[in-house]
Amino acid sequence: MSKKIFSGVQPSGNLHLGNYLGAIKNFVELQNVKENQCIFCVVDLHAITVKQEPKELKKNIRETAATFIACGIDPTKSIIFNQSMVSAHSEAAWILSCVSRIGWLNRMTQFKEKAGKDKEKASIGLYSYPVLMAADILLYDATHVPVGDDQKQHLELCRDIAQKFNNDFNVQNFLKVPEPLIQKQFSRIMSLKDGMKKMSKSDASDLSRINLTDSKEEISNKVKKAKTDTLPLPENVEALVERPEAENLLGIYASLKNQNLENSINEFKKQNFSEFKKKLSDALTEKIEPISKEIKRLLNDEKYLDSILLAGSDKADKIASKKIKEMKELVGF
Ligand code: TYM
Repeated sequence: MSKKIFSGVQPSGNLHLGNYLGAIKNFVELQNVKENQCIFCVVDLHAITVKQEPKELKKNIRETAATFIACGIDPTKSIIFNQSMVSAHSEAAWILSCVSRIGWLNRMTQFKEKAGKDKEKASIGLYSYPVLMAADILLYDATHVPVGDDQKQHLELCRDIAQKFNNDFNVQNFLKVPEPLIQKQFSRIMSLKDGMKKMSKSDASDLSRINLTDSKEEISNKVKKAKTDTLPLPENVEALVERPEAENLLGIYASLKNQNLENSINEFKKQNFSEFKKKLSDALTEKIEPISKEIKRLLNDEKYLDSILLAGSDKADKIASKKIKEMKELVGF
């Protein structure tokens, strides 16, 4: 069955291994199924929910587009565009925010994490961010949304918002309720410095993540310094309990090699970390170095990147403007 795929990535710099293994790698696989229609969005409206330096933002939008392409998203097969070029996203977000309930948004754990202790000082955009995300998805009648595990709650909210709109305006199935596509394994890549914390672009320590622009030397240095424990590598999955760093590094290796966790455990059981780390470093370099080089090459060709985003935005706009027009009519505008 053909799937309509939609997903987005924020252009906030430092795209990392978590973004790749948790999301972008999956985007490429979905794109390569002939029947699927795929739309991948650089969600720049989401990025401004926290303060951005305008020049940096512009650079990061291009860099995110370059990363999509360097990872294997083919602009002749998939639509690649940036959100701010399609005005329907902002319009739909407003309409949907009038359908969404404050109680629903109050439950969002990512807002609580990002806003930190001083919630009063967070932007309203940061609070209503998941409504914009719902608008992104619902404008394109997406049937499936590939994301990492941290976006699960936002997708559940998106489903609730779609159903509420359909009920409120008495239009069964007008907004399509999407299915999340979250991989069973490796959908949450953890920090290299703390196996209990998610790998994240906002972590102050660059040693906590492998960036998709890292060189071979940077990768090898980060893997060497990655936190481990003092035991040898385990013999089976059960023995990973309370060994989050070992589990994370073995998971990264497995995901890079397209194998399951059990296979990596078998490959390294009872060995010490130093041998395993060499192999992990090689696997990372093999995957990331070509991506990193391609991102840098593409960034030298701003005209090309801008032309991809412009062409993608035209295509996205055709789909989204039709849907927003229908939404407005239903609302009574
Ligand atoms: P963002 O930009 O934070 O992350 C992009 C994608 O990367 C995944 N991800 C991870 N996966 C595994 N392990 C990690 N450590 C890790 N860190 C990030 C995220 O789950 C995500 O899939 N709100 C979204 C962007 C968005 C969106 C959308 C996604 C806006 N509109 C519509 C899907 C559909 C976000 O901030 O992702």
